[in-house]
Amino acid sequence: MTIELDAPGSSGLLDASSRREISFLSNMYVLGLTLTAGIGGLLFGYDTGVISGALLYIRDDFKAVNDSSVIQETIVSMALVGAIIGAAGGGWINDVYGRKKATLVADVVFIIGSLVMCAAPDPFILILGRLFVGLGVGVASVTAPVYIAEAAPSEIRGGLVATNVLMITGGQFFSYLVNLAFTEVPGTWRWMLGVAAVPAVVQFCLMVFLPESPRWLYMKDKKSEARVVLEKIYDSDRLEEEIDQLAAAAMQDVESRKRSVSYMDVFKSKEMRLAFFAGAGLQAFQQFTGINTVMYYSPTIVQMAGFASNQLALLLSLIVAAMNATGTVVGIVLIDRCGRRRLALFSLSGVLVSLVILSLAFILQSSCNSNNQILSLGFCSSGIGWFAVVGLALYIACFAPGMGPVPWAVNSEIYPEAYRGVCGGMSATVNWISNLIVAQTFLSIVELVGTGGTFMIIAGIAVLALLFVYSFVPETKGLTFEQVERIWKERAWGSEASSSGSSQKLLEYVA
Ligand code: BGC
Repeated sequence: MTIELDAPGSSGLLDASSRREISFLSNMYVLGLTLTAGIGGLLFGYDTGVISGALLYIRDDFKAVNDSSVIQETIVSMALVGAIIGAAGGGWINDVYGRKKATLVADVVFIIGSLVMCAAPDPFILILGRLFVGLGVGVASVTAPVYIAEAAPSEIRGGLVATNVLMITGGQFFSYLVNLAFTEVPGTWRWMLGVAAVPAVVQFCLMVFLPESPRWLYMKDKKSEARVVLEKIYDSDRLEEEIDQLAAAAMQDVESRKRSVSYMDVFKSKEMRLAFFAGAGLQAFQQFTGINTVMYYSPTIVQMAGFASNQLALLLSLIVAAMNATGTVVGIVLIDRCGRRRLALFSLSGVLVSLVILSLAFILQSSCNSNNQILSLGFCSSGIGWFAVVGLALYIACFAPGMGPVPWAVNSEIYPEAYRGVCGGMSATVNWISNLIVAQTFLSIVELVGTGGTFMIIAGIAVLALLFVYSFVPETKGLTFEQVERIWKERAWGSEASSSGSSQKLLEYVA
């Protein structure tokens, strides 16, 4: 099977024959490790999904919350603030202390946060708990993809990292179920928020028995420990190949491996700037193409189609979340077959079409409400509502397999070992900041230009995202980390400059 490198700017030197020896389900050790690390994704998804339902009941219990939309917004967004800080600091924790310790730290902070929220005597303690939970989610959002990617054989790496995204979308689905389940239970929101401590405790206990990432161990000169872990993943032939590559990579970059890399170092090297631009751009576009607003708006869209009841709207949001999770499964299957670039481009094209449909539906709807003439022309039946529902379903079907998992997968594999934590952390921070910006500005923009206009703006952003992916994101399907490093060197310095020295090793490997 040939790895295609249709990225502009690549010399094609890296086109390599990859033997698809390992399939997704064939290595139970790596799959178990992925699912354990993916509990971080579950906490991410659960936490972002549960708060909308919980807030309804928190309002009933605390008058101060009911009376103040500022307190309500703070309860919701404090977790995002925590995640921004957690992702930024988490990258550094990952590089200095390793992926395993970072996961354990995230769990402890998350457990404390969940218990604080569960027992909160007033809204301010609740906000403090949200901050803690956010910190845990932020650290986990950097750590899980990197830990999984570093243990994964390159030919199934995308699918395994996308499995973490399935845990995110699955966690969101599960949170809606929990919201429904606890509506009649005394203490409602305390259960909804407190129950999240359980998976964190489970992950903590399982992680104690899992190894540190073999690549991190190797970088820290713990070569024999790294070998023990790699022996659990690869057969003997492949094991030697992997170790040779690790050794070759360790010979390059000796300087940055010796000391810990700082955030500013990323901007000092041309190839790191290029890599970070591609990774952070993908993360920003994932959020600015509106996934969370479309999820948020799904009950309204469904009500437009003529389903008025609140309960039905809740149920339908559950269906949207289920579609999102199912779509992520499609992404897991496709990401190592079609490649990251093609999947993202395909996904964004579909997202663009669906946003235009949604926008037109809302624009037509509002002109129907204000113009009886159109009504008499027969445009304003529930037909428009159904048009919107089609837009919504198409959006989720297109986003979920592509722009959901691809930014996380690409960011787990495009940075050299010494920079993987710091850069992954910085680009996850970009994701969380973008998430916060979208959440905070969406309603004001809707007030300003209407829902239809807002979706049209997001469609415009999807066009920019398409151009961005086409121009700046290389294909990394099936490539080893070392091969990916070479792409940035080629892009920064041209194929001539980068093919000296260590490239000889790569050619030998490719041959
Ligand atoms: C994003 C989340 C989003 C989720 C839903 C993830 O990849 O990072 O912000 O809520 O996908 O699909």
